[in-house]
Amino acid sequence: MIPGFFKRLKSSSEPPTICVINGDDAAPEVVRPTVEVLRLLAPDMRFVEALSGREASERYGDTFPDETRKAIDAATCTLFGASGGPSRPILWYLRWGKETYVNVRPVRWCPGYHSPMLHPQRIDYVIVRDNLEGMYPPREGDIAELDALSSSSSWWQAHPRGKRGAYALRICTDEQMYRLAVAACELAMFRQAAGYPGCVTLAAKYSILPRTDGLLRAIVEETVRSYPSLSYQEFLIDDLARRLIASPETLDVVVLSNEHGDILADVASGSIGGLGLSPSACFGGHYAYFEPVHGSAPDLAGEGIINPTAMMLSGAMMLAYLGYTEQAQRLERAIEQTYREGVSLTRDQGGGASTIEFVEAVVGAIVSMK
Ligand code: NAD
Ligand code: IPM
Ligand code: MN
Repeated sequence: MIPGFFKRLKSSSEPPTICVINGDDAAPEVVRPTVEVLRLLAPDMRFVEALSGREASERYGDTFPDETRKAIDAATCTLFGASGGPSRPILWYLRWGKETYVNVRPVRWCPGYHSPMLHPQRIDYVIVRDNLEGMYPPREGDIAELDALSSSSSWWQAHPRGKRGAYALRICTDEQMYRLAVAACELAMFRQAAGYPGCVTLAAKYSILPRTDGLLRAIVEETVRSYPSLSYQEFLIDDLARRLIASPETLDVVVLSNEHGDILADVASGSIGGLGLSPSACFGGHYAYFEPVHGSAPDLAGEGIINPTAMMLSGAMMLAYLGYTEQAQRLERAIEQTYREGVSLTRDQGGGASTIEFVEAVVGAIVSMK
């Protein structure tokens, strides 16, 4: 089951309000049917659509109008499609504005997923990604700006003095590494209660970046050691990339920096059958939002064939977070049944169904379960 461990603290008995942001290119084609399915499962929830991207620009002359920010702030949480560029300021607000510090990306193969792996049934782990720091948000500049720093210490080993070029800064704070580590441990505890091994894996380039990745490594290791029932393992990030393919069954909860998590989540997604299948959730102390791992799939826009599974499973993570546990499980089971039957799959999964035909099959499975 998808983890619903970061449960919202219920401050009132009012049903939740979900801010829905379609995003760009083909993203609205997965968001709209997902909202219909969520309405069916949880009729008491309120959905408020806030404009994004080109629509927002046409209506308000701004890709991130005040109305959208207010709708995000007023909602219990947000369901976000994907940004293809125009919606990026909204994505930035959802991450840094709302301080959603951890991105949880489950990687699980289900029968019927079109995986290129020989034994995909071994794949069932979760990537816990730093959602705020590392190289994000970009802090870049001209390398000439670094001259002042270069004379002050020995860290500047290959100083490109007199050369032209650019640099990027990578930031790791104790606070963010620590809360990322705690999130990973809490998730591992939650999974352990459901029969998983309770193993946290840290992967980073700590051999070459002892101050930044080394800090992440030290804090994650120390934090895991404070949970007596959990075990800890660590790998250099390049070695982990190989292990995602060679021995995924050795992984349970995998903690990664922002950029490593971004890249390896797509690799992991490829191993189960593609980006159409990979959900995610971003949690902070005061807010959460839910989005698929994939982007706006501009190559599929307007075709009506994009796979809505990743978006719907992100919706299931949202249901679990909001305490709608039974509905979350029902949605997951209906999707699994649709894949097991294999008659209404989209093109990326080797089928010929349209997005809507796939959704109709899932809805049929939900209705038949009632
Ligand atoms: P992408 O994830 O949009 O697409 C990569 C490939 O996967 C494409 O061939 C696409 O057709 C396919 N694909 C993606 N989702 C699919 C689905 N649900 N069903 C079937 N096939 C699917 O990545 P990209 O093409 O590198 O980026 C497109 C845009 O999306 C860029 O502007 C990028 O910055 C943005 N992006 C946004 C987010 C986000 O909003 N969180 C995430 C990733 C990429
Ligand atoms: C993701 C995306 C984003 C990221 C982009 C759109 C900024 O690739 O959510 O995986 O790099 O985090
Ligand atoms: Mn990405």
